[in-house]
Amino acid sequence: QASRPTPQATLLVTRRLPAAVEARAAQGYDARLNPDDTPLGGADLVARAEGAQGILCAAGDRLNADTIAALPASVRIVATFSVGTDHIDLAAAKARGLVVTNTPDVLTDATADIALLLMLGAARRASEGERMIRAGAWTGWTPTQLLGTHLGGKRLGIVGMGRIGQAVARRARAFGMTIHYSNRKRLPAELEEGAVFHADPEAMLAVSDVLSLHFPATPETTHWLNAARIDRLPPGAIVVNTARGSVVEDAALIAALRSGRIAAAGLDVFENEPRLHPDYRGLDNAFLLPHLGSATVETRNAMGFKALDNLDAFFAGAEPPDRVV
Ligand code: DGY
Repeated sequence: QASRPTPQATLLVTRRLPAAVEARAAQGYDARLNPDDTPLGGADLVARAEGAQGILCAAGDRLNADTIAALPASVRIVATFSVGTDHIDLAAAKARGLVVTNTPDVLTDATADIALLLMLGAARRASEGERMIRAGAWTGWTPTQLLGTHLGGKRLGIVGMGRIGQAVARRARAFGMTIHYSNRKRLPAELEEGAVFHADPEAMLAVSDVLSLHFPATPETTHWLNAARIDRLPPGAIVVNTARGSVVEDAALIAALRSGRIAAAGLDVFENEPRLHPDYRGLDNAFLLPHLGSATVETRNAMGFKALDNLDAFFAGAEPPDRVV
């Protein structure tokens, strides 16, 4: 007797994903793709999820408490194509019995690379130089043109020494920086690799010639880098953010960049992106990237496969490896 095929779960995929990831999703699931590639949220997301058992979403989608409460009862799991989960109200998901998974590890190196790119770009005034060439304004080498600052010999303060923070530290050591960090828990010595632990992040600010942020966006960390904390940094410090835009108070950073109190900033993420604070665009000392932290072919494929691994485990009745709630 011929065996009946296992009924496939219906999976709402909210964004266009790399081709190999979409192909695997279509093979394993009755996959409902979003050809418009627009971020989803609210009533639109709820309507598209009708009859689905799973949702594969991404960082721009918005699954707030109201949206989660309104999701069809059929939906049992949300797998996000991101390590960050700030776009999902985790408490609401838990209360509704929704499983949520994310994609840690696979984007650590790519994101750490972008942090170093931002550090170097900000310290060496790379985007100013590039704009000068594109504007046809470069009249030739001069001894005093676009002088930046070395990373070597500088003190790097890392706030949040998880996977990405540690990967940034490893890279920064190769540039001759000394590493300071603050974290909820001190790392064991083999992971610390000589980095100086600061139980109080406020105390670390004073020794951070370069400050790099690597902690999640939560209601508690909103606008963590505010005017008071900026004031504790050494004059002429550099600020790098590859975490989430909401952890920086834009008005305070913009004022400090304008006055020169902060020499430069390298920013890959913005509050309310893509509608970033317009004043950033007018600041020569702001090196700006459009949320490219994990944007390599290898990483985005790995993120997609990881999200599908979690969904596959869940629908096979196993514990998803990257379950958040
Ligand atoms: C993440 O995975 O959280 C990155 O920011 C991409 O969304």
